Amino acid sequence: MSSNGFRPPAPIPLDPIEIAPDTFVLRSAQPAFGAPLSVNLNSLVIRGVEPVIVDTGPASNRERWLADLASLVDPADVRWIFLSHDDVDHTGNLHEALAMCPSATLVTNWASTERMGCEIAVPPHRLRWIDDGGSLDVGDRVLRAVRPPVYDSPTTRALFDPSTGVLWASDAFATPMPAEPVETVADLPPGMWPEGLAMFHHHALAPWLSMVDRTAFAGAVDRFRSLEPSVVAAAHTPIIDSGSVAAAMDHLASLPDVVPPPHPDQAALDAALAGSGATS
Ligand SMILES: [Fe+2]
Ligand SMILES: [Fe+2]
Repeated sequence: MSSNGFRPPAPIPLDPIEIAPDTFVLRSAQPAFGAPLSVNLNSLVIRGVEPVIVDTGPASNRERWLADLASLVDPADVRWIFLSHDDVDHTGNLHEALAMCPSATLVTNWASTERMGCEIAVPPHRLRWIDDGGSLDVGDRVLRAVRPPVYDSPTTRALFDPSTGVLWASDAFATPMPAEPVETVADLPPGMWPEGLAMFHHHALAPWLSMVDRTAFAGAVDRFRSLEPSVVAAAHTPIIDSGSVAAAMDHLASLPDVVPPPHPDQAALDAALAGSGATS
């Protein structure tokens, strides 16, 4: 609870899902305020020869996140913590993960380190910097860092595992779910996926989408598509399984010319407050 007495809604706990051999999405969902919606807050674990944690989830889900992690891998064995970018819903348990996994090296980049510098202190000997196009040998596979076409921090790098075809897209493909969370985008109600993608990307992730050079953006999406992922997981979307990957890339490519739903305004907040029964 904050010092003003307000307690935000607790995350909805969701069980981890294995999306490829020894590759697990650690999931939770945040209930939306004023709408019957929820939003995934996910991270990833690759349980290979040198286990990798990919992002560390939000602090609000710490107890469950740490328990889910420990249920999948011995923290003493974790060798790498890949941070896709420096936002709090990805760094929320970074301190705890570094403490819990004493053999782990934090894999990020210079810009991320700079931007986190006043908040998160990581000993330099526990850092590895990998930029866009770089790779990380984790013993039984070589992971690739790729800047996604859309992001809300300039430090953002997606992570691709060529051995399984799993693409961790960071914030790309962010989209809401119904209040009752679903496992995959194929489980979303008809029409909700494209509208949710437009809403989140234009208003909450990449408001410059309508201004981008269309040819350059198409090239960035094609670069993502050319990875030929077998499955896409990301922080704020249900799993994009193999049957939905092509559609996901098509939706992404179309975003610059998609008109999003209106940005919720004060009238929407007033309506949400009235509906919630909250008092001033
Ligand atoms: Fe972000
Ligand atoms: Fe995020």
